[in-house]
Amino acid sequence: MPVASVVLLLHLLSMAAAATAALAMDPAERETLLLVMEAVSSDREWRSVGPDPCGSPWPGLECKPVPAAGNVSSAAARLHVTRLDFGVAPNPTCKDGAAFPHLAFALPHLQSLFLVDCFKNPAATTAFTLPPSANLTSSRLQQLSVRSNPSLSGTLPPQLSSIRSLQVLTVSQNALIRGEVPQGIGELKSLVHLDLSYNSLTGTIPSRIGELRSLVGLDLSYNSFSGSIPGQLGDLAMLQKLDLSSNNLTGGVPATITGLTSLTFLALSNNGLSGHLPAGLSDLLDLQYLIMENNPMGVPLPSELGDIARLQELRLANSGYSGSIPETLGRLASLTTLSLENNNLTGRIPAGLSRLKRMYHLNLSKNGLDGVVPFDGAFLRRLGRNLDLSGNPGLCVDGRAVLQADVGVGVCRRAGDGGDIASVSAATDVLSVGTLFRRDGQLWLAGGRWSALLLIRPVAVALCCSCCLLL
Ligand SMILES: *[C@@H]1O[C@H](CO)[C@@H](O)[C@H](O)[C@H]1NC(C)=O
Ligand SMILES: *[C@@H]1O[C@H](CO)[C@@H](O)[C@H](O)[C@H]1NC(C)=O
Ligand SMILES: *[C@@H]1O[C@H](CO)[C@@H](O)[C@H](O)[C@H]1NC(C)=O
Ligand SMILES: *[C@@H]1O[C@H](CO)[C@@H](O)[C@H](O)[C@H]1NC(C)=O
Ligand SMILES: *[C@@H]1O[C@H](CO)[C@@H](O)[C@H](O)[C@H]1NC(C)=O
Repeated sequence: MPVASVVLLLHLLSMAAAATAALAMDPAERETLLLVMEAVSSDREWRSVGPDPCGSPWPGLECKPVPAAGNVSSAAARLHVTRLDFGVAPNPTCKDGAAFPHLAFALPHLQSLFLVDCFKNPAATTAFTLPPSANLTSSRLQQLSVRSNPSLSGTLPPQLSSIRSLQVLTVSQNALIRGEVPQGIGELKSLVHLDLSYNSLTGTIPSRIGELRSLVGLDLSYNSFSGSIPGQLGDLAMLQKLDLSSNNLTGGVPATITGLTSLTFLALSNNGLSGHLPAGLSDLLDLQYLIMENNPMGVPLPSELGDIARLQELRLANSGYSGSIPETLGRLASLTTLSLENNNLTGRIPAGLSRLKRMYHLNLSKNGLDGVVPFDGAFLRRLGRNLDLSGNPGLCVDGRAVLQADVGVGVCRRAGDGGDIASVSAATDVLSVGTLFRRDGQLWLAGGRWSALLLIRPVAVALCCSCCLLL
């Protein structure tokens, strides 16, 4: 037997011996664990797990060997509680009136604590409190998740900022959690993900969040934050996801946002944001989702939107945008969704949009767009019901195409180039709602019904438009 194999075999044997010889739990830690269970769990059987819970852990309890300090021998490794997960089966469910488990923070090796769907007794609220800061500074907790607790009440405890080891902090979907975010949150320099969405938080977004330079995800959506977006958020160079939607934020989008060069997802919908989008949007090289609906922006759309090269979804509905749709949007080769409905956009639909091969959802309804729709049959077939151009009284398809395809609805028609008055009036007869207007020295007939028809019979309209292109 080669020497290397012998050494390996001996090593494996010693590891097996070490595993079986792992020391029982520390008695004090065991007692703390059982007290946490008593405070939270609805399970009455847990005391019967025997003398060593880590030896036969129940769902929701995870233990790992941690060598005693200063002793590299794995034989000296004790099993320690590293993860506790309460709330959703198969994890222990929480009893009515469960207290927020302060003692869990006294488990010296705990890395993850989950309280999900735990505090939900409608008759009694549980206060969200933490032990004193001094008890938290030696914590090794990396992940704290307090989610979906409808009866958990109070504010974000300021002691959170003492858990310096935190990498993932989720306090989300707790409708009774209110008040301001403590400025001390800026102390949590190891944070990678901060999710405070769907609570009832108020006040301004702390500028000190800009100090959390390791942040990859920041979600403050669905709260009642007010004031402006702090420019310091632009310092978060690692940030990939920023969601501030559905708050009460006002002012402009800060120019510093173009410093978020790792951003892939930006959502600012349902706020009171206004004014021009900052110059330099094209610096957001990785941005795939720009979702910013329902804000009183009231400005023209910047042509620079067409330079955000990776953009897949651009949703800017209900925001008072005026002027024309930038031609540059036709450069966004990855675009799948474009929502510009319910703005004040005027002019033609850029022909370039019809060349976007990935597009499958296009909503331009309720604007002041006009002219001939530039889409070909293949495009119309592909989008089908996901195309909505309704509510643009000046928009039309070529009238000859409609009449030749005999789909029963002509929408707009040139009255100048050899067309006779009879066919125009025929078209007018077919269209119950139609308006004649003059553009480019020609007479046009426009009606609001064609896009409705498009939603109902996309294939028929697609066919008719193919004819139109053949002519
Ligand atoms: C390390 O642990 C082993 C096994 O428990 C023990 O025999 C040894 O004395 C310990 N060494 C130190 C330096 O604590
Ligand atoms: C905080 O630490 C002190 C001193 O170690 C201890 O007596 C007390 O029980 C701890 N409190 C909590 C809530 O863990
Ligand atoms: C948003 O702000 C307005 C004006 O300050 C206020 O009337 C409204 O209640 C706020 N909405 C929320 C959800 O906080
Ligand atoms: C759209 O324009 C009209 C007329 O200029 C104006 O009255 C209206 O307030 C504008 N709507 C929005 C949402 O900006
Ligand atoms: C387009 O937006 C309007 C809201 O203005 C909505 O009612 C309609 O369902 C949307 N159409 C499509 C196809 O998404």
